[in-house]
Amino acid sequence: MRVAVLRGGRSSEHEVSLRSGASVAAGLLEAGHEPVDVVIERDGRWLCDGAEVELRAAAGLLGCDVAFPVLHGPFGEDGTVQGLLECLDVPYVGPGVLAAAVTIDKLVFKRLLRERGIAQVDFCQAGEEGWRGRAAALGLPVWVKPSRLGSSVGIIKVAEPAALDAAVGTALEHDPRVIIEAHCEGLEVECSVIGNDAPETSLPGQLVVNADWYDYEAKYEPGGMDLVVPAPIGAEAIARVRELAADVYRSCGCTGLARCDFFVAGDGEVLVNELNTIPGFTETSVFSKLFEATGLPYPGLCDRLVELALERHESERSYRY
Ligand SMILES: Nc1ncnc2c1ncn2[C@@H]1O[C@H](COP(=O)(O)OP(=O)(O)O)[C@@H](O)[C@H]1O
Ligand SMILES: [Mg+2]
Repeated sequence: MRVAVLRGGRSSEHEVSLRSGASVAAGLLEAGHEPVDVVIERDGRWLCDGAEVELRAAAGLLGCDVAFPVLHGPFGEDGTVQGLLECLDVPYVGPGVLAAAVTIDKLVFKRLLRERGIAQVDFCQAGEEGWRGRAAALGLPVWVKPSRLGSSVGIIKVAEPAALDAAVGTALEHDPRVIIEAHCEGLEVECSVIGNDAPETSLPGQLVVNADWYDYEAKYEPGGMDLVVPAPIGAEAIARVRELAADVYRSCGCTGLARCDFFVAGDGEVLVNELNTIPGFTETSVFSKLFEATGLPYPGLCDRLVELALERHESERSYRY
């Protein structure tokens, strides 16, 4: 297959996406595919093999069989690029428009979890009616976050009430939608998922972070985090994590892949934190390592995702809408 690998993008996760995309291209090559490098610059220009191209040409008219968006955050993981590819009728890897849009937004995602009665930390939206009272009721510390970013960008852990407004101000520089969350004292555990109608989960892994929390440096500096697979949380919590990962994946309408992130409290309670539909995707990223530990090595993973994209495109054609 000729696979257009879309990487870079307009979000603050541009650099991370460049690395993820380069790994995916190598993985596809190893699996026998022909990757075509499509870099989206920070200013939104699309480059194809280094030369600037019209957006339509880059997305649809390359003669590629399938597109593989390896774009993190807004303008890539949020349904926008997926919508473009839908309009151009190009099969693509990963979530469709709806799943990408509802999972990128922490506020919308957590409201969906709440509706399903899935355990999570309590939260409120900065600026909504009565938010100051609700934020105070969350206790301390609280976590203030832009609702639609990733890679820990713009997130501040607030330890005292006097620091709240400044943290909200910082988050507002990134996103007009700001979430405030209660703190969870627990292990951070992640579980990878692939599939369309019948999602398969990886063994969960525990992130042992060599910092106060899993901030940008801990995520991307060598030695910032050690991954322990399987997570040492006992068979029951492992089963619960996998069951919840598949459940959340299905209920958000995910396809292709995702990484579902959890907190596991001391008493074994499993809380969902977030779901990333285009997780960090280098060969050493958590997403890939978890599947590797589950018996699916990187090139096979890339290959399977291309297959799933084509299957989904084919099955979408059978609906009349
Ligand atoms: N409610 C919380 N309780 C404890 N730690 C948190 C909480 N929210 C975030 N963190 C810490 O911040 C990190 C990044 O937060 P997260 O919501 O996953 O944002 P991102 O989308 O940027 O990954 C988490 O991996 C964790 O280390
Ligand atoms: Mg996270």
